[in-house]
Amino acid sequence: MSEYEWDNRIEYLSQTRWLYYNDDYLEFLVQKVWKINRPVKIIDYGCGYGYLGLKLLPLLPKGSAYTGVDKGSALIAKAKEIFADLHYPTEFVVGDVEDIDIDRKYDIAMCHAFLLHMTNPTAVLKTMIQSVVDNGKIICFEPHWIGNMANYGFAGLDQTSVIPLGVLQKLFEKDANRNGKDGNIGISLPIMLSRLGIKNIDCRVSDRVNFLDQNMDLSSRERLYRALTEEGIGQAPGDRDETVEHLIARGLTAEEAATQYEAERYLSQAFDEHSWLTYAPNMKITFGTVQR
Ligand SMILES: C[S@@+](CC[C@H](N)C(=O)[O-])C[C@H]1O[C@@H](n2cnc3c(N)ncnc32)[C@H](O)[C@@H]1O
Repeated sequence: MSEYEWDNRIEYLSQTRWLYYNDDYLEFLVQKVWKINRPVKIIDYGCGYGYLGLKLLPLLPKGSAYTGVDKGSALIAKAKEIFADLHYPTEFVVGDVEDIDIDRKYDIAMCHAFLLHMTNPTAVLKTMIQSVVDNGKIICFEPHWIGNMANYGFAGLDQTSVIPLGVLQKLFEKDANRNGKDGNIGISLPIMLSRLGIKNIDCRVSDRVNFLDQNMDLSSRERLYRALTEEGIGQAPGDRDETVEHLIARGLTAEEAATQYEAERYLSQAFDEHSWLTYAPNMKITFGTVQR
């Protein structure tokens, strides 16, 4: 067990990324939206095991190169192992993005599900921007939790009983105001990037809707159910008093905390491999051009 949390979450990362985008949509972004038609040098901040590289390198013009930076040494070791046999030009660096100097030599600086974990995302965006050559791109794939949570459809369960959006909206806002980490950062990035001087900003929504279909073949159903539970859907909330106390410490009233606990407990009991569920993660993909 590593002391660094994300080094212990490789299984979670590798089980869940496929819930967010269809491959044809990523191809559409590369070819039709970003129109990348010559080899590019990419840097991926908080790269994990190299998910973005694995998805994008096969779609990019031959000769494109991928650099991944992450604080997790086990994650970087995993990335090196995965890419060892793939024959793409890659480089992996263990480093803390909040305290690192990166040369200005990349055509594109990217990140995926990373800025939401930063206490000062604006400072990290500035680091990303300074690593990109003139007329290069910044591309951020980040979540919008409250948009995500409005996009569950459970057969036989009232949405208000299992996902009380009002309380969650308040909880996420309080968390972001308290520690700077914002699970809804995806929806704010167009504004943040424009204020940092990025031009031609555009934002897309991830296309994928996952359907846990009780009529699908067993192995696909098991794979999807495993990914959904790794994603946290239906996770049991744990000890009642501790959970309620923690929610109150995060800014809910005692009544709201009790309601939230009850919703999580109810969903953990109601959701299993026999449930019908549709779920759209609703990631936001924001991009723009660095013009100095
Ligand atoms: C949710 S994971 C996303 C990983 C990867 N981008 C993906 O989507 O599979 C967040 C990642 O950010 C990395 N991270 C968090 N803080 C960091 C920091 N200060 N410097 C570098 N990496 C960091 C973690 O190690 C983790 O791999």
